[in-house]
Amino acid sequence: MTQTPRTTPTRKPRTADDAPAISIRNLSKSFGTNEVLKDISLEVGTGEVVCVIGPSGSGKSTLLRCVDMLEIPTSGTVFVGADEMTHPDVDLDRVRRRIGMVFQSFNLFPHLTVMQNLSIAQTKVLRRGKSEAQQVARRNLERVGMGHKENDFPAQLSGGQQQRVAIARSLAMDPELMLFDEPTSALDPELVGEVLAVMKSLAAEGMTMMIVTHEMAFAREVAHRVVFMDGGYIVEEGPPAEVIGDPKEARTKSFLHRVLNPLVIEPDELTDEGVRDYT
Ligand SMILES: Nc1ncnc2c1ncn2[C@@H]1O[C@H](COP(=O)(O)OP(=O)(O)OP(=O)(O)O)[C@@H](O)[C@H]1O
Ligand SMILES: [Mg+2]
Repeated sequence: MTQTPRTTPTRKPRTADDAPAISIRNLSKSFGTNEVLKDISLEVGTGEVVCVIGPSGSGKSTLLRCVDMLEIPTSGTVFVGADEMTHPDVDLDRVRRRIGMVFQSFNLFPHLTVMQNLSIAQTKVLRRGKSEAQQVARRNLERVGMGHKENDFPAQLSGGQQQRVAIARSLAMDPELMLFDEPTSALDPELVGEVLAVMKSLAAEGMTMMIVTHEMAFAREVAHRVVFMDGGYIVEEGPPAEVIGDPKEARTKSFLHRVLNPLVIEPDELTDEGVRDYT
């Protein structure tokens, strides 16, 4: 097997008075009696790429959604830059404008063209004029290799292309940081690479990113830090070479073994919901 050289993404130098891009302190979240996040503390620095990995139901999406208050934490604090998202007086709309969010499902407006999908929030939320919005849209479509598709409707695009458009739509809002929740899990395997390539180039540009992913090779190559969650806890975190390459905790080892050897599943690992497909 040939080894491709690893590229380390650049990271903007931090100054002493820089607030972390995201600061999560003693965060807990319950749905009824089900406590799904338990005393989570995590910082993401400016320009840092943090990949969150872990089994299904471990709380990864909930954690990500607590960052922009799509889920309201039960206790604890969340800061985005200097703004406390958990403060009762925070202007959530204003802070959320600085955050790009990309989900597994692309959520493009089906009745709008690619260009219209990229322009609408710019004109309505950022109050940009039409021609400026189109200029910004084109620049960001080029960035994700979709410049030639601005007049297409989402249904005319492959899943990978739709996800790249969704990323460009987020980028057109000039976010300071991006949150990704399994952006490639809904894609056919041959389309995963093109979306990961876009995310890799964003990392190289110094974008701050928190990424929930099952793509271990990607996390290993692109993340500055990997966080392994299980049962609502952060079990282990550190550089990818440690957490993925040489995990210390038994739960991390067993998760990685299952992810990296998806065919080696014992019958007692089957649940009512089946076994997650990590391939
Ligand atoms: N809106 C909700 N209401 C009630 N329970 C929820 C809600 N959202 C999530 N949960 C529960 O919280 C737990 C954590 O869910 P979460 O979606 O954060 O896990 P995950 O790690 O993202 O899993 P997956 O890898 O399958 O996406 C699960 O037990 C889930 O059933
Ligand atoms: Mg999830």
